[in-house]
Amino acid sequence: MAKQLNAALAGQVDKSRLPRHVAIIMDGNGRWATRRGLPRTAGHKAGAEAFRRIATYCKNLGISYLTVYAFSTENWKRSETEVNAIMLLLKKYLLEAVDSMERDNIRLRFFGDMTPIPAELQALAHQTDEITAHLDQGDFQANICLNYGGRDEIVRAVRRYAEDCVAGKQNPSKINETLFSGYMDSAGIPDPELIIRPSGELRLSNFLLWQCAYSEFYATDTLWPDFDEAELDRAIAAYQQRDRRFGAVK
Ligand code: IPE
Ligand code: IPE
Ligand code: MG
Repeated sequence: MAKQLNAALAGQVDKSRLPRHVAIIMDGNGRWATRRGLPRTAGHKAGAEAFRRIATYCKNLGISYLTVYAFSTENWKRSETEVNAIMLLLKKYLLEAVDSMERDNIRLRFFGDMTPIPAELQALAHQTDEITAHLDQGDFQANICLNYGGRDEIVRAVRRYAEDCVAGKQNPSKINETLFSGYMDSAGIPDPELIIRPSGELRLSNFLLWQCAYSEFYATDTLWPDFDEAELDRAIAAYQQRDRRFGAVK
């Protein structure tokens, strides 16, 4: 039933009511590979291609921000081979991004704690940050969540805020949601209106816990490497049919 409804929604995107910010939990790479008799790392490679495809499509549609979950604070529990393969793929992607960001007007930002990330990757992320700083604020922005956890993001924000209080720059009696949002990795970016999770799992797995307060959630059984433009159309069309009340009565 849900599948039929999803199929019917493809191609029904109202371009005048697009979400400004779409977030995706890029899940299902491992299962995609296993089903083909391939190593899990082949799934991550296909997943990286899906990201490239969907980021380009979001930019062309006119979505302002795409935030993707690439590696969680919990994903270090995986084998060293798998973690290394993911880091290598990220390096390859960032090297290409450094070359093409300016030409394609794509801003890149990272959410997450970069301190345990390999130095080479950190340096590349620093380079993409510098390019992003020069690009127009209105350009499409992709946020890559790397060693990211929603709880960890909140704890890091609290730490920075507490340090500012100790330094006399903040006063605890003045804190409010807007001020606190400014300490998050997502500072200055509107909350995602739509969060998509492929691969059939119905959980957030520690993704954007602060920002998801009123996000619309969309799940599909499609595995991330198979997620294409039509799938994104379906998710956006479903989002556009939701009645967003924000606690009020209409
Ligand atoms: C998502 O795909 C990518 C990462 C978590 C890094 P998975 O690797 O979790 O794929 P499944 O869930 O095992 O199929
Ligand atoms: C969430 O997927 C993290 C990313 C997609 C990067 P997981 O595969 O790690 O989540 P669980 O373990 O199924 O909750
Ligand atoms: Mg998974």
